[in-house]
Amino acid sequence: MLDIQSKLLSRDPSLWPAQPATDSDTAFIPFNRFCKTGMEFAYIQQAIDEMHVSGNGRFTKLCHALLEEMLGAPKVLLTTSCTDALEMAGLLLDVQPGDEVILPSFTFVSTASAFALRGARPVFIDIRPDTLNLDEAQLERLITPRTKAIVPVHYAGVACEMDAILEIARRYGVAVVEDNAHGLLGKYKGKNLGTFGCLATQSFHETKNFTCGEGGALVINDAGYCEQAEIVRDKGTNRGRFVRGQVDKYTWVGLGSSYLPSDILAAILYAQLESRETIQAQRRHIWERYNMRLRDWAASYGVGMPVVPPQCQQSFHMFYLLMPSEGSRARLIRHLQARNILSVFHYLPLHLSQMGLRLGGRGCSCPVTEDVSNRLLRLPFYNGLTEPEQARVIRAVQEFEP
Ligand SMILES: Cc1ncc(COP(=O)(O)O)c(C=O)c1O
Repeated sequence: MLDIQSKLLSRDPSLWPAQPATDSDTAFIPFNRFCKTGMEFAYIQQAIDEMHVSGNGRFTKLCHALLEEMLGAPKVLLTTSCTDALEMAGLLLDVQPGDEVILPSFTFVSTASAFALRGARPVFIDIRPDTLNLDEAQLERLITPRTKAIVPVHYAGVACEMDAILEIARRYGVAVVEDNAHGLLGKYKGKNLGTFGCLATQSFHETKNFTCGEGGALVINDAGYCEQAEIVRDKGTNRGRFVRGQVDKYTWVGLGSSYLPSDILAAILYAQLESRETIQAQRRHIWERYNMRLRDWAASYGVGMPVVPPQCQQSFHMFYLLMPSEGSRARLIRHLQARNILSVFHYLPLHLSQMGLRLGGRGCSCPVTEDVSNRLLRLPFYNGLTEPEQARVIRAVQEFEP
């Protein structure tokens, strides 16, 4: 059981069922697949030809400028992952042992571990049953004099209720760091996700809308963090000032680590970001087809579907079903597997994880998280998912009786 579960949760394609069959009616449909947009190899070649393959080369700078323009943010720094961008946020906010950081239990491990690494205690908040985002109505009672930050996660690229979250954060003088791993190009009331918190983080992992395999970015909305962020990303050194000719040698000036990706990764990412309109149009079609064609089936069996409130423009990151029970989810996974289609689930509640319990999760009450975690199922969703492939997935789901 554990073996099957770990395979289902795995983001490592080598652990997924093999055998891409040749017959298109039976060929394996993965949950996620990397899709190149066309310019990736040319840009990698250019980085190599120009002999700058370490960080902060041409393509890193191009990504920075493009992301700053896309988001309307004062500064964006590429990082080696969203996890690393979150760790940078922990360092920049000077999170200390004993500080508390409020974050949803229903999220990826990194949202919590990045701050736990600095000695902070994660305070887990439950989610809303509609958007599966942190329940802002429960936020205020979790704030204490030790609260250092609130980390909203825009789940599936659908915005959290940022007005309420920011109002509470402002009133108590607490920082907001958006974990926007899913939400690049999503909006809340017309404003880009990733531009609400003093800091925000992006993921460019292979499973995301735009990817360089492993990668991320720190979005700096409070310009006061810009210089320190450069230092934190460059091993705690003032190398950035040295490169700009502002000092004649560089040295160790603060806490930091190696969070700067190679320009080869930036080259891949730049190709993907340049194609953002095509990618988003594809993903929108995929999302809308699932939503339209599965609506009646879902309604007749009491299966939940994603909720996108009118004030939110989503990023079309994923499509999920909320099955009536854990058992029906397990049966649907097997039903799809038997048709060579991989579906996956996530997240296991962090407050009940080994580390979550050690750090105080036992005292948390997150019943919605526990319920959703048992019932949520993600369907195959990637830029190159073809219409016939998706039709097969939809047909297979429709044949299933929960
Ligand atoms: C909400 C959330 N935050 C952070 C991460 C970590 O992203 P990365 O793999 O880029 O470190 C993920 C990964 O999927 C995620 O879902």
